[in-house]
Amino acid sequence: MKNKINTDYKVGDLIYDANIYDGLNTFLSDLYFYKKWLPKNKNAKILELCCGTGRLTLPIARDGYNICGVDYTSSMLEQAKVKASDAGLEINFIEADVRRLDLQEKFDLIFIPFNSIHHLYKNEDLFKALEGVKKHLKKGGLFLLDCFNPSIRYIVESEKEQKVIAEYATSDGREVLIKQTMRYESATQINRIKWHYFINGEFHSTQNMDMRLFFPQELDSYLEWEGFNIVHKFGSFKEDAFNDNSDKQIYVLALLGESI
Ligand SMILES: C[S@@+](CC[C@H](N)C(=O)[O-])C[C@H]1O[C@@H](n2cnc3c(N)ncnc32)[C@H](O)[C@@H]1O
Repeated sequence: MKNKINTDYKVGDLIYDANIYDGLNTFLSDLYFYKKWLPKNKNAKILELCCGTGRLTLPIARDGYNICGVDYTSSMLEQAKVKASDAGLEINFIEADVRRLDLQEKFDLIFIPFNSIHHLYKNEDLFKALEGVKKHLKKGGLFLLDCFNPSIRYIVESEKEQKVIAEYATSDGREVLIKQTMRYESATQINRIKWHYFINGEFHSTQNMDMRLFFPQELDSYLEWEGFNIVHKFGSFKEDAFNDNSDKQIYVLALLGESI
């Protein structure tokens, strides 16, 4: 039977409008976690997949690391490059799709931060990205990623009403208000989130922010099937053990057969 399930990738342009993104995402609580797991040797090669505007890439480069950032949204990468050049940092930003990664080099640590794997809608998208990680990871290297722990309670509550989730000003002078609605599709495991943008007090547009959810046991299995050893699974960036109340799934992974 032909599969009629729609797993199209849908993220609206405004979601990854670089100034709107940077105005919203100013927190750095995940940075300290990622920094802690970097190799001590500053000559180590680090690869950030789905680096966006360089929120994490820049501070890691500022610490003296050799880091390369990959993303496929050119406007996000442009902003990352401008910020790096303003800060006097040399960072290799590469425009590429993480499902088709071929950088012809290997890295000591690879990470996919800030829920980015939720944009890998089909299993094959995730598997291709994981194959890419394996191909680019040095023997003895580490692979880190974080994503949400799906909360059925949160989804049920959020489906009931529209909620204001952010109100802020961008560096280019826009007053932004975002209201959120969502509808979870249980056949695809995609949470069809909509962000309704009001700019300078007027409704601007509704933008899709679809997120494929990964349930804990399935994600553990996918990672293991793809050849990764789960060294740690945390439930918060403070490294609490993953449990029933965890908002996040945060993995420290090595290649199978290797431990740290
Ligand atoms: C939530 S943002 C994270 C950005 C940045 N890492 C941060 O922590 O702020 C997700 C990023 O993933 C990128 N992205 C999504 N799917 C991708 C893919 N298949 N290949 C490359 N980049 C992708 C988007 O362009 C976006 O910049």
